[in-house]
Amino acid sequence: MSHHTVLVTGGAGYIGSHACVELLNAGFNVVVVDNLSNSKVTSLNRVEAITGKLVTFYEADIRDKQSLSDIFSKEQPSTVIHFAGLKAVGESCEQPHLYYHNNVFGTLVLTEVMQEHNVKQLVFSSSATVYGITDKTQYSEDLPIGAINPYGRSKAMVEDILRDLAAADSKTKSDKPWKIALLRYFNPIGAHESGLIGEDPNGIPNNLMPYVAQVAIGKLPQLAVFGDDYPTKDGTGVRDYIHVIDLVKGHISAIHAFKNTQFISGNCKAYNLGAGHGYSVLDIINTFEKVTGRTINYKISPRRDGDLAEYYANPDLALKELNWKVEKTLQDMIADTWNWQSKNPQGYQ
Ligand code: NAD
Ligand code: UD1
Repeated sequence: MSHHTVLVTGGAGYIGSHACVELLNAGFNVVVVDNLSNSKVTSLNRVEAITGKLVTFYEADIRDKQSLSDIFSKEQPSTVIHFAGLKAVGESCEQPHLYYHNNVFGTLVLTEVMQEHNVKQLVFSSSATVYGITDKTQYSEDLPIGAINPYGRSKAMVEDILRDLAAADSKTKSDKPWKIALLRYFNPIGAHESGLIGEDPNGIPNNLMPYVAQVAIGKLPQLAVFGDDYPTKDGTGVRDYIHVIDLVKGHISAIHAFKNTQFISGNCKAYNLGAGHGYSVLDIINTFEKVTGRTINYKISPRRDGDLAEYYANPDLALKELNWKVEKTLQDMIADTWNWQSKNPQGYQ
């Protein structure tokens, strides 16, 4: 199987770099296309150190059609995993055009090039955020989509575009139909157990886990807990945290599933990637303190705009059709986050 090449857009980023490790370990050739707008090429050097294998890297923007087309001609991938995109909700509200341009237009260019090169297997990074507001706390794939900010809408729009592409193909009975997995991630945290790669946010982190890790190491003075009056078990927000290694294994499972019945005649299907249960902000703080022996200085603060009280995945479909489920515990996620943070206090710098 080592002749199968997977082209990974955004492969130098947090999730992409972990995916490269698992792809190389599974015997795939890996080609990364990344414009390094939110990452450093050091991550890929570390991927090579972990695996003892080489990654082919192109510094290019997925919106640059000519460059992308040249890469496809040269590398002849069989499958694409599409991580490239922007992901900060707050920034997306301030600069919606930037988000639609990277996430939506970028995907249009990518799929156009794929179509022209007859590469029609795609795994896409979607998000639980596409579910928007519902009265349910456990999300199944059949819930309606209703994102509530430009970032979320960019993901929802891409999902629609990809469903339309696959549907058009099945109408014309293409002899090589699109096979597309829309993977809806819940909250990825953690790092590779080597501590060589991990999440390296620019500036002050928006997300809970990197924020907690930076308080623990003394880079930030105090965590603000956004609300303790939610209708949850302890009043703080509840999320479904998933170890980044479990998450990227879900992508390998999706590639394998392209051979299975549900994809045989081509299809576009959404799968939740989550554990199926949630932890509160206080659970995270308490477990972090227990696992690392550090004290997290925190203060109960006002709610953050746009936050929901509680949600977590129904991961049954991924188990049934992708034969995938999470294996790691919250302790693993925190121990690996701390290992990465303490070995790389300045990230990749
Ligand atoms: P990341 O920023 O670390 O990785 C994204 C990578 O894409 C970066 O290396 C960046 O340089 C690159 N990139 C961005 N725009 C590009 C472009 N136009 N051309 C080429 N490269 C480009 O983010 P991540 O956390 O690894 O997320 C990967 C994907 O997963 C994103 O699409 C994100 O929206 C999605 N996602 C992430 C989370 C999360 O919590 N991290 C949750 C749900 C979905
Ligand atoms: C955020 C994004 C969501 C994205 C997800 C990716 C927002 C509004 N939502 O979701 O679109 O898909 O990241 O993982 O940005 N918290 C604190 N203090 C902090 C940071 C967070 O108390 O400094 C709380 C939050 O209120 C929440 C929980 O911790 O209850 C997790 O927050 P976060 O890591 O930002 O993830 P989400 O809010 O789920």
